[in-house]
Amino acid sequence: MSNPSLLILAGDGIGPEVMAEVKKIIGWYGDKRALKFDVSEDLVGGCAYDVHGKPLADETMAKAQEVDAVLLGAVGGPQYDNLDFSVKPERGLLRLRKEMDLYANLRPAQCFDALADFSSLKKDVVAGLDIMIVRELTSGVYFGEPRGIFTEGNERVGINTQRYTESEIARVARSAFELARRRGNKVCSMEKANVMESGVLWREVVQKVHDEEYPDVQLSHMYADAGAMQLTRWPKQFDVIVTDNLFGDLLSDLAAMLTGSLGMLPSASLGAPMANGRPKALYEPVHGSAPDIAGQGKANPIACILSFAMALRYSFDQGAEADRLEKAVEKVLADGLRTADLMGPEGGSPVSTSAMGDAVVAALDASL
Ligand code: IPM
Ligand code: MG
Repeated sequence: MSNPSLLILAGDGIGPEVMAEVKKIIGWYGDKRALKFDVSEDLVGGCAYDVHGKPLADETMAKAQEVDAVLLGAVGGPQYDNLDFSVKPERGLLRLRKEMDLYANLRPAQCFDALADFSSLKKDVVAGLDIMIVRELTSGVYFGEPRGIFTEGNERVGINTQRYTESEIARVARSAFELARRRGNKVCSMEKANVMESGVLWREVVQKVHDEEYPDVQLSHMYADAGAMQLTRWPKQFDVIVTDNLFGDLLSDLAAMLTGSLGMLPSASLGAPMANGRPKALYEPVHGSAPDIAGQGKANPIACILSFAMALRYSFDQGAEADRLEKAVEKVLADGLRTADLMGPEGGSPVSTSAMGDAVVAALDASL
């Protein structure tokens, strides 16, 4: 049997730096665990625009459709800020999500013990936190039509459209219920049914999928604004949160900071199963390209490394190896290693991106 295939799209800013550390980990699995991947690499985002005049070449899109999993670093940078909307770096990422139909975006927020003091919230609020945000990723206001900036009378009007079909809501709800069954068996669905029709439909459909297919899972509903408040008040009340594309974007950044740093948070974007039974999948850190620190060896590679752990778990049925990698990260943090983003106001001496990656590899070695 051939090796599973991975397409690496490191992207812009700190993307290539953090991905270099993931490549060390991929190499380690090949050497030490006989877990070999056929790795290819290509461009996405601003670096693709520089070469092709668009943020994702059609050939790259086609490759992404064929591989077992895509690993993405980050896209964007200030030099691309004034580009036309249709060729901005972010459009490359959005095209991948849409054309691969990666409707379920899993964004876990876990607080590592070693970092509990580092959160801006009190330690007892975040210690031991382990929640999963399931964000709908291929519809809603990110993609709804009509959209654009139009002229009405003597002024312009900016329009985006929030749009959800019943089947789009139902499929992401199923992803959330399935995950909940393997975790704490609780789902909280968040929308704004008090002001938006799409929220009314969202709530109805999630409830129906629950009643008909997952009555054993505990389901609650919350308005998304109240959800944001509850997430900062007592986040441990949640297990799985399911929400739409835009609310999920906001709530997952909020959840990320509960854990101490955006530099820690991985994500998996999953679609329907392919012919080989694996879901279409793209794995990426939740953080962006951080152009202000790019190229300085300051970036935290952990979010990207943990994204590869999610690939091991969700694409390659290697749950035990995913656990091993997550434990290695935990050990390195417990040993006191910190990249600059994990330094408190009192400072200290941060380790570089590559030193952090090397330490994770050493911890993997020690796990054998
Ligand atoms: C994210 C990012 C993206 C989004 C951007 C880069 C398009 O913020 O993945 O959360 O808004 O979805
Ligand atoms: Mg975001």
